[in-house]
Parts: sequence; structure tokens; C-alpha cells
Amino acid sequence: MCGIVAYIGKKDAFPIIIKGLKRLEYRGYDSAGVALIDNGQLNIYKCAGKVANLEEFISEKNAEGTIGIGHTRWATHGPPTDVNAHPHISMDGSLALIHNGIIENYDALKQELIKQGYVFKSETDTEVLVHLVDNIGKKEKVWFGEALRMALSHVVGAYAIVAISKDFPNQMVAARKSSPLVVGIGEEGDFYLASDATPIVEYTKQVVYLEDEEIAVIKFGEELKLFSINDEEKRPYIQQLEMELEALEKGGYEHFMLKEIHEQPRSIQDCLRGRLNAQEGRVTLGGIKDYEQKMIQANRLILVACGTSWHAALVGEYLIEDLARINVEVEYASEFRYRNPILSENDVVIAISQSGETADTMAALELAKSKGATILGICNVVGSSISRITDAGSYTHAGPEIGVASTKAFTAQVTLLTLMALSLAHKKGSISETNFRILLTELEAIPEKVKKVLETNAKIEQIALEYKDATNALYLGRGSSFPVALEGALKLKEISYIHAEGYPAAEMKHGPIALIDENMPVFVIATKGNSYEKVVSNIQEVKARKGKIIAIVTEGDTQVREMADHVIEIPETNEILVPLLATIPFQLLSYHIAVMRNCNVDQPRNLAKSVTVE
Ligand code: F6R
Repeated sequence: MCGIVAYIGKKDAFPIIIKGLKRLEYRGYDSAGVALIDNGQLNIYKCAGKVANLEEFISEKNAEGTIGIGHTRWATHGPPTDVNAHPHISMDGSLALIHNGIIENYDALKQELIKQGYVFKSETDTEVLVHLVDNIGKKEKVWFGEALRMALSHVVGAYAIVAISKDFPNQMVAARKSSPLVVGIGEEGDFYLASDATPIVEYTKQVVYLEDEEIAVIKFGEELKLFSINDEEKRPYIQQLEMELEALEKGGYEHFMLKEIHEQPRSIQDCLRGRLNAQEGRVTLGGIKDYEQKMIQANRLILVACGTSWHAALVGEYLIEDLARINVEVEYASEFRYRNPILSENDVVIAISQSGETADTMAALELAKSKGATILGICNVVGSSISRITDAGSYTHAGPEIGVASTKAFTAQVTLLTLMALSLAHKKGSISETNFRILLTELEAIPEKVKKVLETNAKIEQIALEYKDATNALYLGRGSSFPVALEGALKLKEISYIHAEGYPAAEMKHGPIALIDENMPVFVIATKGNSYEKVVSNIQEVKARKGKIIAIVTEGDTQVREMADHVIEIPETNEILVPLLATIPFQLLSYHIAVMRNCNVDQPRNLAKSVTVE
């Protein structure tokens, strides 16, 4: 939540910051702002709305300076107004600061500062920080970097902060705790800072990810200096970015979401690459191989996640229990962390997160670690916080996902969980060699089959036209297709704002069936497999109440075709791999409906991609 970009060097800071903010807009788009130091003046430009608004607002002004900070906000404290937009500035106008995260004790700090004469303009928690730094700076007679370091010991909460002062026009200070911050080291003594590496990659591939409670003191032309909050100097660990710029562009597609849906044959392939060898009958997950015996012998594997990643975890539960015969529990990270769960060193907790930054998922891991459990991660963003706090883990390698609604990250997570289930099952001996090899061959064929599913796009667009004005929708599936139904419903509601519910198909008659009438579209996964006949009965129950059936079926199916209003065929595959194919028509359907309803597909209202607040 909230995106941060900053630059210090010889170049014009404003274009770099605006471009960077556009790349980070997926993190929040309630308001945007920039602060620049120009000829000893600290100038602030900020307004409610998207980065494009800010750009337009600034176009009439002279936004100059070679040092600057920029912010795109996802509102937590105070509505999305001009005044609440970051940067926030000290009362004497010398210090400006941007912040991502939440200051939990902001009210107590605010009351104290008010008593000392500070006047607050905004309703944000962030303004407390700027006044606190100013207050400490003046009282202790220290420069703003030292004042910021001292201020942080009074702060409870999460933060990524960058501050500049017109009294030190050659310096910038940054700090992080539980919210990500990356420093890019330019070739000309210049530096780039951002919430993730996407705004940095076009300028440099040399980066340093700040650790928790680390403070970076950045001076143009000098080496990056890092300190702990206790003022001990630390050595920066410089890493090489592997990201390519093209991955961050729309590449001819109208929206990132559509591009990312179409990237799935490649992203699934990238997730499989080097890990699956069907010919030799081998699955290797290098990142977790030292922990596989521990997983096999564990009391339970507990998968913690939020949102779409939680749906992937549910698919994982089916796969791991079915193939590897290991107890699996799936938990919403936000519930798990506050439930005082019973955990021991015999449990393995696995976090699943695209961003690797989700606050609740991080906290669930920290709790599990404190109770002695082994903690593993399945993340997409390389170098993200979750990937760094876990004992071990595997990356999904889906590439940057920019559309706020998760698509290719979900299929990559399910792919990785399939590999994990197969690898554990093989090592444990709970799968026959023949079945193992059949599944490997089937899994290897999935990227080509996904390509075939994508060919149904035109048909799905037609279906979307018919149901775009629906006010409610039901999604049904059984077995590992039940999480696909949940995911289908989530995709529809989050980008088209149509209310949708996902249900296990058999649960429909325990309540939701009361909603069914001739206006209710019911999306059903009715592919061939163990529960096919049961799902057919559920379809009949819907038809008997005049509901509209849109069914995902296996190629060549005739029985459901006769009953359904529409069918979308997917290639035949082993039942346990169906989620990887069946989810794609739902992604396309939500996409087209959202476009037809004129919704902002890539940046749906009220959402942000990286949820770093609980
Ligand atoms: C929905 C979506 C969210 C995320 C959730 C978890 O399309 O993207 O539900 O899945 O916020 O995010 P990560 O996976 O980054 O932990």
C-alpha cells in the first residue's frame, strides 16, 4: 500500500519520480504528490486522485530540482484529499517526508506534539512523523537524519520513509520497518529509491534492499551508508536485479490484466523450468529440498495466505493431501495471527504471497516462527520481505504482476504447489512411479493447454456481453475446483463490482439456491472427473429454478452442453490439474465484463496490490 519513489543526483528528478509513481500506482491511487528541492527552495505539489492528475496539475508549474521524493497513496488515516496527500511538510517548511505503512501510536504522539504547539493540517498518521522529526531536531540540535533515527525509537508501527530537507539539499534519508524499500545505485553517483524495484530497473540493476529498522543516509556522489536504528553502521549488500524493463510495459495490450492473462503459458512454463523433467521422471524444488523430509514428517503443513493466494493455498491443500498424504490446513493469515494457534516445532508453516509483503501474512509467519515452527515461503516478488524472513522457499517466477487483480500469479502459485505435492509424494512413496510419471507428463503439457484455453477468448467476450448487467453471480465447483469457483467470484467482484459468491456446488442447496431465478448467472466447473455426475445434478437443480448456467466443461462433453445456456470447453487433463485450466475462462470473463462496464480494470476502486497494512 502506498508507493514511494525518490531520486538524488544530477538529472531532473521530476520525470524520474512521475514515471516511477506510475509504475507503483498498483500500490494505491487515492492521491499523489512530489517534493523537490530547487535552488534552496523546498516545493511541494500534491493532489487527490491518480498520478496522471498530479502530472496535469504540475504541467503548468516549473517542477525543477535534482533531488526529490514522490508518493502515491492508498488511504488509511483520513480520506483521499489534497491535504492528506503526501509529502507532508514541517511547519517551518524546511523538511518534507513520505511514508508507507501505519504509525499505530500516532494519536498519542500527536497529542504530545499539539501540547508543544504543533499544528496539524492533515488527518494522516504520517504528519506526526514530520513534526516529531522536526521537534527532535530542534530540541537535540541534530541534523534531520539523526532526528529521524531518534524519532523512530518513539514510533510503533510499520514504515518505509524517505525525507529531505532544504537545509541539506545534497542528502536524503530513508528508513524501513515492515514496509519495503529498495535503493538503486546509479552509475553517476546518483541514487534511486522505491517501494519495489520496478521504478529503478531502467536506470540501474544494482540495488540494496533495506532491512527492518535500517536507515539509509544517501549523499549524492558518495557511497550509500546504512545504520541500524541504534546507530551501528552496517555494510550494504548490493544485489543485481534480474528484472527486465519489457516485463513492466503493456506490450500492445489494452490493460496489464489482459497481458498477464495471456502471459500464462509462459509464466507457468517459467515456474516449471528447471524443476520438472517428465522424461527422466524428476521434480526438484531446489529452494526447499533441504526441508522436504521435515515437511513429510511434520504434524501438519499450515498454508497461510490472503485473497487470491489463499485460494491457491486451498488448491494446494487438495493436492498435497491427495498425493502426499500429509495433513494440510489452510488459514487466512489475518485470522491465524490473532487466534493463538497451537503450534510446535513439528509444524511447517508455508506462506503464499505474490507480493511477499502482505502484512497479515508476514505477521502470521513471525508468530509461527516465535512458536518454533519451520517457516517457508512461496512468493513471486524476488527479494520481498516474506522471502527474506523465511527459513527457505521457492519463487513462482511469474514475472512482475502489475494489474491489481491477480491472474498469472495465481496459476504460478498453483503450479508450484503441484510441483511441491508431487515432489513430497514421490519422496514419501505415497504415489506409484507410474502415476507420478503420468502426472509429470500431464503437468508438462499444461502451458500448451493454457494456450488452447486462451483461444476461447472471443466466445467468452460474447458471454460477457450477455451477463455484463447482472447484479449477482454464483460460482460453483467441487473438489479442487471449489477454490477455482471462489477465485472466479473474487475476480468478478473486484474488477467489475458485481456481487458474486463462490460455493462448493453441493452447498448450494443449503442456502444460496434461494437466490436463483431467471436473472441469476451460475458459473459452474463441470469437467470430467470423480464428481462430474454430482455436478450435473447441481446444474439440474439450478435449471429447475430457471437460473442461467455457464459451464466450463471438458472438450467433447455432450451431457452438460444439453443443459447449459453456454459451455466453455477446456482441454482434457488429469483432474488434479483442472484448476490451472478452469481458472482462465473466469479471468477472461471478469476482464471483459469489467471493460464493458467501463471499470478501471488494472486499478479497481478501493484496492491496492500490495497490502502492507493489516
Ligand atoms: C485479488 C488479489 C488479492 C491478493 C491478496 C494477497 O486479485 O490480488 O486478493 O491475492 O491481497 O496478496 P499477496 O499474494 O501479495 O500476499
